[in-house]
Amino acid sequence: MRIVDNRADLAAARSAATGRVGVVMTMGALHEGHATLLREARKNADVVLATIFVNPLQFGPNEDFTRYPRTLAADLQVCEREGVDVVFTPDPEVMYPGGEPGVRVDPGPLGDLLEGAVRPGHFAGVLTVVHKLLCLTGADVAYFGEKDFQQLTLIKAMVRDLDLDVEIVGVPTVREPDGLALSSRNRYLDDDQRVLGLHLSAALRAGQAAAAEGADAPAVTAAASAALAPVEADYLELRSPDLGPAPAAGDARLLIAARVGPTRLIDNAPVRLLGKV
Ligand code: PAF
Repeated sequence: MRIVDNRADLAAARSAATGRVGVVMTMGALHEGHATLLREARKNADVVLATIFVNPLQFGPNEDFTRYPRTLAADLQVCEREGVDVVFTPDPEVMYPGGEPGVRVDPGPLGDLLEGAVRPGHFAGVLTVVHKLLCLTGADVAYFGEKDFQQLTLIKAMVRDLDLDVEIVGVPTVREPDGLALSSRNRYLDDDQRVLGLHLSAALRAGQAAAAEGADAPAVTAAASAALAPVEADYLELRSPDLGPAPAAGDARLLIAARVGPTRLIDNAPVRLLGKV
């Protein structure tokens, strides 16, 4: 496994690569969710590239950029174990040599909903770094977790709308046996907060169960809200799979964000609305 931290070495590693190049972009603090993405890449690509970069552009002024977990030595072990060929670990000066970029990718109206409503500028920061990493790595295929469903939706939209020549693959969320979605931020939770955090996945299951019994969209969200209590939602919304308004029948997505102590958790799941039964 090669570890490179600058553009010249990345370009050299990239031009030595033959076949289909898959990339898994991360901010480090790797867990089983990331390992699953790396395994998907290893199965389907000839060369696997991982990037580890805590992107300052996607954190708001009062968010956890400085205290975001940085565990490079352990992350490199995960990459090695999962058969990664090249790991790119740039500093901010390597990613943004001229300082914070004036030109950013505009996520459009979808970037203002849900997470975007609570975290202004977040998705412009995400799309800008994802676009730059796609250019720098020249990847043919990139793997992202469904856990960040709005991020995945926006990355697919960017690739479609800006004619980027890369395939985007979404990978289902990995959960603890008790349902908690894996996240690098779970390590902020103490025991009591972790128990409260379980209400998010319980709410998703309650929404799915209600839908399976024929509940319509308002009844699905009501069932989910009841199961989320006593945790208070930043948002709990049922939407179409591309994050438009929820359909009357067919596939939909239930998305939740909530604060547990000082930690903000997000989760989502597919829901199938039966329509009039
Ligand atoms: O999902 C993440 O870890 C980040 O948002 C990403 C895609 C690596 C961009 O910084």
